[in-house]
Amino acid sequence: MAHAARFVAGAADARQVPPPRHPEIAFAGRSNVGKSSLLNRLVGQHKLARVSKTPGRTQQINFFEIDGRLTFVDLPGYGFARVPLHVKHEWKALVEAYLTTRRALRAVVVIVDLRRGVEDDDAQLLDFLQANGVPPILVATKSDKLAYGERIRRARALTEAVAPLGIPVVVCSSANGAGVEDIWKTLEALARHAR
Ligand code: GTP
Ligand code: MG
Repeated sequence: MAHAARFVAGAADARQVPPPRHPEIAFAGRSNVGKSSLLNRLVGQHKLARVSKTPGRTQQINFFEIDGRLTFVDLPGYGFARVPLHVKHEWKALVEAYLTTRRALRAVVVIVDLRRGVEDDDAQLLDFLQANGVPPILVATKSDKLAYGERIRRARALTEAVAPLGIPVVVCSSANGAGVEDIWKTLEALARHAR
């Protein structure tokens, strides 16, 4: 289903972060994992968030207003080796400041590749969010890249690993839309409740 979505602002440093207007849902994950593609698929628009073949393309925090009532926040990807260290430190400081101080933030969608599962960086982020009282949702994307049996096997393994931590898990594909309605349902429930 298509949603009204508009780009609000891009922030490369804390001063450029816009004042909060709605409950916010942020999207985080490794470089190139498919954050921007998922955001586009959720709102039913192909070109809202920039999708790239070059990892590390989203280098700022991008804010999008959805249906005049929610804000989606596209965070820069982590784990991309070719980014200079000082830039990595800047992003990390910016993202951590955002995640720890933003009172409008209701949840963070942590996106992993279903083929790779939760890697060290992802586990660290999940820990960090839980330690700071920000509810994470784990979304495993690119399910279209696996054959049925393998998809089911990996989805089950992921759920068994993460569900005991109280983290919801959704398997999806931005290519064919599988799981996208489930993500919406989870986000709607989280957006309704102030932390
Ligand atoms: P950065 O902003 O650079 O960190 O990347 P990102 O996490 O926003 O990833 P992006 O959405 O730009 O997608 C990276 C590549 O993966 C693109 O070539 C997408 O077309 C592809 N991709 C993303 N999601 C899916 C999916 O569900 N299935 C398939 N087959 N490809 C996908
Ligand atoms: Mg991106």
